[in-house]
Amino acid sequence: MTAPLLRPLRLGGLELRNNLALAPMAGITNAAFRVLAAGGGAGLVVTEMVSAESLKYGNRKSFRMLELLPGERPAAIQLFGADPQSMALAAQAAERAGADIVDVNAGCPVKKVRRSGAGAELMRSPQLLADIVSRMVRSVRVPVTVKFRTGLEAGENLAPLLARVCEEAGAAALTVHGRPASQFHSGPVNLEHLAAAAAAVKVPVFGNGGVGNAEQARAMLEGGCSGVAVGRAAVYNPAVFAEIAAGLSGESVPRPSDADRVRLFLRYLELNAGIYGEEHGLARARKLVGYWLKGLPGSAGVRGAFMGLKTLKEAEGLLIQYTRKK
Ligand SMILES: Cc1cc2nc3c(=O)[nH]c(=O)nc-3n(C[C@H](O)[C@H](O)[C@H](O)COP(=O)(O)O)c2cc1C
Repeated sequence: MTAPLLRPLRLGGLELRNNLALAPMAGITNAAFRVLAAGGGAGLVVTEMVSAESLKYGNRKSFRMLELLPGERPAAIQLFGADPQSMALAAQAAERAGADIVDVNAGCPVKKVRRSGAGAELMRSPQLLADIVSRMVRSVRVPVTVKFRTGLEAGENLAPLLARVCEEAGAAALTVHGRPASQFHSGPVNLEHLAAAAAAVKVPVFGNGGVGNAEQARAMLEGGCSGVAVGRAAVYNPAVFAEIAAGLSGESVPRPSDADRVRLFLRYLELNAGIYGEEHGLARARKLVGYWLKGLPGSAGVRGAFMGLKTLKEAEGLLIQYTRKK
């Protein structure tokens, strides 16, 4: 009998309630956002990437990025770095902070990260990646997972090899972004490359890239991926996980109305204010406002006005026009 496409997933000793994960996004998947994604049906949420070297030197901002809220379990903390010892120490810090999973970033295409030998650069050095993963696995009790891409350049598929290397080093699951690093976050996702990676290993593989609805998730799952990780579609709608879950089960849930989306955004602002204080919390939200309000009438003007806000009351005043319409 074939397994249902939507299903609980076991990663090492951890049971996820479903196989739909929030993909890590720097500047976006902070604790406030993760709470909304977990509430929106994600079976696993992942932090922004945190620098192992910054943790090693006691950087306060990086330690704050390890803080988890009660409403976001289970949560993975993602780390980036190129030194096995620093990564092992960072994994221990993440475990102490309460991470259910520690994830290795081996796919970040950003120049600054790659120049330090981390992120996608690790795909060039399978032996170093294996050293990092095995050292981390020996240093913590929680499962260690790895996220990488199908290749560095268009056309190549390094994912099956890297998947085997990570599995042998002790990784409990993998996330593979189906675009090469050279494409950053745009362009087509190669489903065949993802299927080949999933077929190469026994551990669960989350397919990632361009999934925003049940049909797109189905294509990855039918190709052999055990789960799906959703990035930008969740920024537009943090409840997209529930929508995908319903679609995979042959059901449907109503799409959130514009008013619902704005109410959720206000909830995000409140959570952000609780973490960073009102003014800084609103500043952090600037990166999201474009995604979140996309498609709402007059959103360009509202987005512009949002950039100057300092208090939650002002934000409510600006956004209330949308919530009143329903
Ligand atoms: C703004 C932004 C920040 C990202 N930051 C990270 C990160 O910190 N770690 C990581 O592994 N991937 C990061 N990614 C990649 C996403 O996790 C994901 O692989 C990519 O967006 C493709 O999925 P999507 O098409 O569903 O958005 C980021 C992507 C975006 C758009």
